[in-house]
Amino acid sequence: MGFMELAKNRYSERFYSPRPIENEKLDRILEAGRLAPTACNYQPQRFYLIRSDGAKAKLRNVTHFHFNAPAVILVCYNRDEAWKNPRDRFYDDYCSGEQDASIAAAMMMFEAEEQGIHTVWVRGFDSRSVAETFGLPENIVPVMMLPMGYPREDAKPSEWHFIRKPLSEFVRELR
Ligand SMILES: Cc1cc2nc3c(=O)[nH]c(=O)nc-3n(C[C@H](O)[C@H](O)[C@H](O)COP(=O)(O)O)c2cc1C
Repeated sequence: MGFMELAKNRYSERFYSPRPIENEKLDRILEAGRLAPTACNYQPQRFYLIRSDGAKAKLRNVTHFHFNAPAVILVCYNRDEAWKNPRDRFYDDYCSGEQDASIAAAMMMFEAEEQGIHTVWVRGFDSRSVAETFGLPENIVPVMMLPMGYPREDAKPSEWHFIRKPLSEFVRELR
């Protein structure tokens, strides 16, 4: 599938079949995240797999956006490894960790899509609760979760999927 086709086909999946994801497919998805570009090539992205019954039970305590997906990747960054720009005059203590983690997450999202595995990008959680519930080290910052799996037979996109502003609202030419 070409990239534009992937981009058009993808939608946020909220109806998952219980069918497990094959290990080889999950490995390819994680590999796509490993290959992501990062600021100064520092590679601070970290992926935590949530697929055991115990981990899923913990997940249900920190977000209701789990959609009973057979697997979830919690995407984080290591704050000690992320590129920083303390002299940035727009942001206080700028750190590229969220960008690095997000690019990795996007690459995993599209690799999953290419293999027929649907995903939904989730940020509806309290990062502190997630870190405490899963006992993450202090330097690991949760960024997003990527529930994933095969779609149920009756799966369909939400209405929001079909609402996009025209390109003219996004683009301005600078002179
Ligand atoms: C940063 C970000 C955070 C999101 N958080 C959630 C979430 O917590 N729960 C959820 O159901 N969807 C979440 N979404 C999915 C959006 O609602 C969805 O992408 C948007 O409505 C467009 O629909 P589509 O992805 O089906 O095209 C999030 C998406 C992004 C990019």
